[in-house]
Amino acid sequence: MKYIKFQDKNGSFSIENPENYSGLYIPLAGENGLKSAITPSLGGDSKLDQNHFLLEPVSIENLHNNRNTRNFWCKIKGKGYWSACGVSAEQEFQKYTDKQDKNSLEAGFMWQKLHRASEKYGLQSEILSFVTVKGDAEVHLVKITNIEEEEQEITPVAVIPVYGRSADNLRDHRHVTSLLHRIRTTEYGVEVKPVLSFDERGHQKNNTAYFVYGSEGEGTEPESFYPDVEMFIGEGGSFLIPEVVREEKKGVPAGTEIEGKEAVGGIRFASRVLRPHETAVYIVTAGISEKNQLPEETARFYRTEKQVAREFEHVKKHWTEKVNVSFETGDEDRDNYLKWICFQPILRRIYGCSFLPYHDYGKGGRGWRDLWQDCLALLIMEPSVVRQMIVDNYGGVRIDGTNATIIGNRQGEFIADRNNIARVWMDHAFWPFVTTQLYMDQTGDMNVLFEKIPYFKDLQTKRGTAHDEKWSSAYGENQKTESGEIYYGTVLEHILLENLCAFYDVGEHNEMKLHGADWNDAMDMAWENGESVAFTCAYAGNMKNIAEYLRKLQEKEMFDRIEVAEEMEILFTGDRELYESPEKKQQLLRQYTEKCAHDISGNTIVIRLDQLSRNLDEKADWMMENIRRREWVKDGENGWFNGYYDDHKRPVERAENSQVRMMLTSQVFAIMSKTAQKDQIESICKSADKYLFDRQAGGYRLNTNFHEEKFDLGRMFGFAYGEKENGAVFSHMAVMYGNALYKNGYAKEGHKVLETLLDAAMDFENSRMYPGIPEYFDNQGRGLYAYLTGAASWYMLTMITEVFGVRGDLGDLVIAPALMPEQYNENGQASLTMEFAGRKLEICICNPEKKLPSEYKIKTVWCDEKEMKNKQSTCVRIERELLEKLSVKETHRIKVELM
Ligand code: G1P
Repeated sequence: MKYIKFQDKNGSFSIENPENYSGLYIPLAGENGLKSAITPSLGGDSKLDQNHFLLEPVSIENLHNNRNTRNFWCKIKGKGYWSACGVSAEQEFQKYTDKQDKNSLEAGFMWQKLHRASEKYGLQSEILSFVTVKGDAEVHLVKITNIEEEEQEITPVAVIPVYGRSADNLRDHRHVTSLLHRIRTTEYGVEVKPVLSFDERGHQKNNTAYFVYGSEGEGTEPESFYPDVEMFIGEGGSFLIPEVVREEKKGVPAGTEIEGKEAVGGIRFASRVLRPHETAVYIVTAGISEKNQLPEETARFYRTEKQVAREFEHVKKHWTEKVNVSFETGDEDRDNYLKWICFQPILRRIYGCSFLPYHDYGKGGRGWRDLWQDCLALLIMEPSVVRQMIVDNYGGVRIDGTNATIIGNRQGEFIADRNNIARVWMDHAFWPFVTTQLYMDQTGDMNVLFEKIPYFKDLQTKRGTAHDEKWSSAYGENQKTESGEIYYGTVLEHILLENLCAFYDVGEHNEMKLHGADWNDAMDMAWENGESVAFTCAYAGNMKNIAEYLRKLQEKEMFDRIEVAEEMEILFTGDRELYESPEKKQQLLRQYTEKCAHDISGNTIVIRLDQLSRNLDEKADWMMENIRRREWVKDGENGWFNGYYDDHKRPVERAENSQVRMMLTSQVFAIMSKTAQKDQIESICKSADKYLFDRQAGGYRLNTNFHEEKFDLGRMFGFAYGEKENGAVFSHMAVMYGNALYKNGYAKEGHKVLETLLDAAMDFENSRMYPGIPEYFDNQGRGLYAYLTGAASWYMLTMITEVFGVRGDLGDLVIAPALMPEQYNENGQASLTMEFAGRKLEICICNPEKKLPSEYKIKTVWCDEKEMKNKQSTCVRIERELLEKLSVKETHRIKVELM
């Protein structure tokens, strides 16, 4: 049976009986402002940030008993009362009987529309919900239709409980904070303005008002209000059968003021007689007004059906245009899933990892590595904003190569860690160059490397191992020189520092220290002696790439030398004997971090780029050779790389008959960095297929079952096996595995990874999720942690740059497709629409014989029906200059014919 049915090519879909599945929700948000989540029965919550929740915060486990939430009641004269979204005691009781209301849902980017029909009450509802583009209100357009052949009198009551405070108060002073509430009713609704905000920031005078407004379709005001919970549900009552609905109680008029109660936006509309098949329209808006602004200033724009319809069109247009990448691979369902995947990075920019029901961790913002990886997708979708984002983000790097981990709300805002020893995630310094490299390739702008920005400074020093007691907040959050000035270094200097410091920061096996953890946040218990070979590979690959771009700088005759802080000179030491000795490396690093523990001198030295690139190459080669020599785990004919050492200094992966311990991360970075050589890649693929692949579970698992709690490596081993970071099919790493394989020419193998993952997500019967890719699949195949995952950025990027092979090469456009036969339509065509060089392009690959990537040759290339010259037989190169001559208005068609 097909559960998710798409309605267009922009991801809009419908589903029957969504209320019968757990954990489903659609994100509703604006560009700024409100961030909501909404379930098929209007559950979920809504907030601006950690300290401003409009509805009570919910986590995934609250969704199935989330009853004190948005609702729309109809009292039907002579019959009883019915909830238009299905949340009543009676409807819940009937849910799995043949008396269940018919219900279905349609949804798209940032909107959902519920449909319900009750035979018993002869009513039908349609509830459209969205958040405005500005994010100033959540809007619900409710249509109630009489489906009987005779007149019916209804009295509607809309309700949205107003929590109106910080998430911290959920069980910290829950009651006390309700005493701060000042509630008043106005002509159109209920407003709640607490006197103080009362949370971890201390007691502050509050300037924020929370509101719920209502009107009839033509803009008529409601009849009366129920502004507090006690009044609404009644003594001993509940939201499933509120007293005012049950007993048909009138509410209080506009102008009523109430103090110190839990608030609710209860709105009673005038009773109305509906003729057969007649529809009544109601609008409910809810929002948060900051800075003493009046809710009325917002709500008046969404008061009539016409106004709401106009804003809804705006919302749909805005978000579909934002997702300006589309795929046509001969399977419309897949293409629509890919649409949602492309939307996901935008969602994470908005929600971080804190504000959807599964994502209840943190208090907002994003982690460092997520920040950089989400930029990968934004680079494709919104390239114009990314340059500054990249430059600003480098401002979070410390002079010791580590970085700020608390990221503020504004771009480039990093918050000092004033307390304990900060955790150092040893992979953090790897990601910035990955993003910067893609940026340079997509745009051809290498000047970005020479932008100057400060370094971040706080109490943490010497790579998280000590405090700089001389630092205080008066010093400020920028690294200074001895003369008290802020030190500005180039982006390139920041990159070098990040990678070189990591190079020296090794453990006993001469692999980089794991510190607090690496990409896998749950490998967090080997602080002393843990080592991550996986990321030693990654850094080695990075350093090779940096060296390559330095050579390109020279080739383009842009620069041949750079200026760096004089303290850095020792980091360029090139000495094999030193490389071989973990002690000497650590000593050198200590020497460096000692010098930079507080201020730096401010003096600089000049280095020749050719020397620098040689030095980086040499270091990277050494690391790779060392890993190839020492970390290969042999398993009969095959094998794989050991990726870690635990806190007892023991290698973590092994191939013993009784117990195979293999981890995907270790293989991904060995392959991606090209540490793994051809035969090793093939061996790894075989081993991964043997030990990690599980089609039912969604593909490649993160690790085999260690059957050990392993407190000397990380909390992941405390998680049930097959869940999250302990052996689930974890989408982010799986996609990176696919990416690494494609990068090395293993298209078939890479395709298998991406395909199984998407198949698992699309298998609604098991995955039980709306379209998109989840963070991981659990042991039963359910997709968990919808929307907010780094996997989405990587999936989209891999589809574009590897599968379609459309990528920038220092600004030029290169096309080298690696599509599998099943990715073409019946005519042997596949296409990708995206922007490049500010031009809208539809890139169409025509492969009538559906030849494999290793078999085809380029026959001809057309741009808007004109044949183009192309020198190479396996890839197309279109110079940027040529693209820039095309007009920016229309979409240009680039057709690549293969033979
Ligand atoms: C999440 C985090 C990511 C981390 C990963 C593994 O992955 O966001 O930073 O590396 O867990 O611990 P995501 O949700 O992005 O797939």
